[in-house]
Amino acid sequence: MTSKEQFNKWANEYEKSVYSSDQNNTYPFAGYKKIIDNIYKEIILQDKANIFDIGFGTGILLSKLYDKGYNILGMDFFEKMIKVAKEKMPKANLFKGDFSKELNDEIKKVKFDFIIATYSLHHLRDEEKIKLIIKLYQLLNENGSIIIGDIAFETRNELNKCKIKYEDEWDDEEYYFIYDDIKKMIPYENTFEKISFCSGVIRIKK
Ligand SMILES: C[S@@+](CC[C@H](N)C(=O)[O-])C[C@H]1O[C@@H](n2cnc3c(N)ncnc32)[C@H](O)[C@@H]1O
Repeated sequence: MTSKEQFNKWANEYEKSVYSSDQNNTYPFAGYKKIIDNIYKEIILQDKANIFDIGFGTGILLSKLYDKGYNILGMDFFEKMIKVAKEKMPKANLFKGDFSKELNDEIKKVKFDFIIATYSLHHLRDEEKIKLIIKLYQLLNENGSIIIGDIAFETRNELNKCKIKYEDEWDDEEYYFIYDDIKKMIPYENTFEKISFCSGVIRIKK
């Protein structure tokens, strides 16, 4: 098997595990496709847009937007993900970097209409999420939006219920959004849309 075939196999397996969890309506990816579709449909209401995807992974959402002709920038720190995504989007500006530390200089120079983060920010603790959101907000055009689709719960009680049900699969090293807590920490107007029992979309509009 060539290395390109190996990467594709690995990416297919990643995507298969996401879709299978979603189809079976189980933690952690129940609601995944709906989140991707909702964000996609929201963005394509606008003809032209600068879009920044933070933690683009294999580019499931970003490549759909790339195919529509939007100006795409992305950042991820996992070589394999970047390589697979680059195959889908050869002309996109995809950068390697750690968003828990700094944003790449090339990204900081641009103003965006949409900054999207799907299933990537739960790797950060809440204080780190807020620091990043503040940095990202500075990069928005007037009327621009940050759209976060992720494993998320409206209340701690809902998270606890999910944790009990899925105690064998539960990942204690991830920090899921609890909207009741995070809404007060975000210093901008924000909304939450519940998508499944373990997912939702947080929107922050400038
Ligand atoms: C579960 S995947 C989600 C990928 C994609 N957004 C999706 O919806 O399928 C999380 C992605 O975030 C990236 N990531 C996590 N923490 C990161 C960090 N601190 N800096 C850059 N990328 C990070 C991972 O490499 C991975 O590609």
